[in-house]
Amino acid sequence: MKAIRIQPILAVALAWSFGTHAEAKPPKQPPPPPPNAPSAPDPGSPPQGVPPEQLPRKQPAQRPQPPDNPPLPHPDQHRPQFGDPLPGLTRQQLAEFVDGKEDFEDAENEASGLGPIFNRSSCVTCHASPATGGAGPINVTRFGRIENGVFDPLAGLGGSLQQEMEINAVLHEVVPPEANVVAQRNSTPLFGLGLIEAIPDSQILRNERRRPVDGVLGRAARVADAATGRMMIGRFGWKAQQATLLSFSGDAYLNEMGITNRLFPVENAPNGDDQLLAQYDTVADPEDVVDPATGRGDIDRVADFMRWLGAPPRLPLSNSAARGRGLFQSTGCAICHVPVMFTGPNRAAALRNKEVWLFSDLLLHDMGSLGDGIAQGPADVRDMKTAPLWGLRASAPYLHDGRAATVDDAIKAHDGEAKAARDRYMKLNEQQVQQLLDYLMSI
Ligand code: HEC
Ligand code: HEC
Repeated sequence: MKAIRIQPILAVALAWSFGTHAEAKPPKQPPPPPPNAPSAPDPGSPPQGVPPEQLPRKQPAQRPQPPDNPPLPHPDQHRPQFGDPLPGLTRQQLAEFVDGKEDFEDAENEASGLGPIFNRSSCVTCHASPATGGAGPINVTRFGRIENGVFDPLAGLGGSLQQEMEINAVLHEVVPPEANVVAQRNSTPLFGLGLIEAIPDSQILRNERRRPVDGVLGRAARVADAATGRMMIGRFGWKAQQATLLSFSGDAYLNEMGITNRLFPVENAPNGDDQLLAQYDTVADPEDVVDPATGRGDIDRVADFMRWLGAPPRLPLSNSAARGRGLFQSTGCAICHVPVMFTGPNRAAALRNKEVWLFSDLLLHDMGSLGDGIAQGPADVRDMKTAPLWGLRASAPYLHDGRAATVDDAIKAHDGEAKAARDRYMKLNEQQVQQLLDYLMSI
C-alpha cells in the first residue's frame, strides 16, 4: 500500500465541509486552464481536447447497505477455529464483528467508487484462507528506482504500489521502464490483529533496547499514524508501515480498491496521469460515505471486524513438537520471533492485559539478501518486520513475496541479522528439523 499520506487536518476539514452525506459534495469543477501555458502540467485541468462541459459529472457513491440484525455467531470457546471472533466480546462488539465482516466481504463496483485503478474489488478476495480474514494466494507488486543508493518510489509515475486492474482498459497501469526494483508482496493473514494493535508501544521499544545477541539489533518503526495524527510504533504490514487497524483499513480501501475515504481522500492516478484520472473518475470523494447516525464508514466497520477477529487457534504440542520448542529457543529463532508479548490497559475487556502468542518482536531487521529493495516509511530497502509465526500452518506460501512453499524453504532464505540462526538451523539433524517444524505447525 502506498507511502502513507498524513492528512488528518484535511480529512477533518473534508468530513466537516461535506457534512456526512456524499450528496452534499458539489461536483468538482476543473480550474480554468492556465493562460498561455497549454503544456504546463496541471493535475486539475481537463484532458486535452475535451471541453470541460463534456467531462463526466461526479456522482455520489452508491454504497452497499448491510442487512439489519444479522444473527450473531456463537463460537465454541473450547474448540476455537480460524475466523472466530475473540473470546469474551460483548454483544455490541460481536454485532460490530458481524457488521464489519459484511463490509469486508462486500464486492465494490464502479457505482460504489471502485477504481478507476485497483487491485481487487473486495478485501476478502485477498484475505480468505482458511476463513474470512486469512491469507491469500494473491500478490501485489511494488516498484521503484534505486540510484546512488537512494530509493525513489516513483510516486509521479504511480509508485510504489501498482494497481493492476482498472474500470477501463485505457487506464491500465504498468511497471514503468524507469523502475529498476520490482518486488512482490504476499497477502498476510489478519487473525488476532486486534491483540497486536493493543500491545503498547513501550513493549516494542523495550525489545529495541535489549542487549544484542547474535548481532541481532532490530529497530522500532516510528510512523505518523493517519488515523490519530500521532507518532506511533508501526506494526502492521511486511515493513511495519502502519500502526493502527483504522489506518491500514483506510490505506487498503484506497490503494487496493480505489475507494477514497476520510483518511485517504485522493485517488491514485494511473501511472501518475492526472488527466486520465480526471476523465474516468466519476464518483465524488470521499467514496466511503459516512453514516450520519454513527459518524462511521466502511473503513471503521472493517477496522472493527479485524480488531475483534480472534487469534489463530493453537494446537496441543505432540512430543516431537514439544522438543521443537526447545530447539526454537536454542537455535536463536526466539530472539526475533519473541513468543509472547502482552496487551496493556484497554477499554475492551477482550483486549485488556492479554497474552499475545504472536512470535514476533514487531521490529524491523536488516535481512540482507532477503530484503525486498523497497524503502517504505521508516523501513529501508533491506529492512523487514519480523513476521509473526502464529497460524503458520494455514498461511503458506511464506515470506514477503511468497517465494517459499514450505517453512523449511522460508528459514533457509533468512540472511542478514538472521544469518547466525539460519546457520544453526542448517546444522540440525533430520530429526531435530522435523521437531522444530512440528512445533511451528502447532503455534
Ligand atoms: C489485492 C489483494 C489485497 C486486497 C484486495 C486487500 N489486501 Fe490487505 N494485504 C494484501 C497484501 C499483499 C498485504 C501485505 C502488504 C504489505 O505489507 O505490503 C496485506 C496486508 C494487510 C494488512 C496488514 C496485516 C498484518 O499482519 O500486518 C491488513 C490489516 C490488511 N491487509 C487489511 C485489508 C483490508 C481491510 C482490505 C480491504 C479494504 C484489504 N486488506 C484488501 C493484499 C490485499
Ligand atoms: C534477525 C531476526 C530473525 C531471526 C533470528 C529469525 N527470523 Fe524468521 N523472520 C524474520 C523476518 C524479518 C521475517 C520476514 C522476512 C521476509 O519475508 O522478508 C521472517 C520470516 C520467517 C518465516 C516466514 C513467515 C511467513 O509468514 O511468511 C518463518 C517460517 C520464520 N521466519 C521462521 C524462523 C525460524 C524457524 C528461525 C530460527 C531458525 C527464524 N525465523 C529466525 C526475522 C528473523
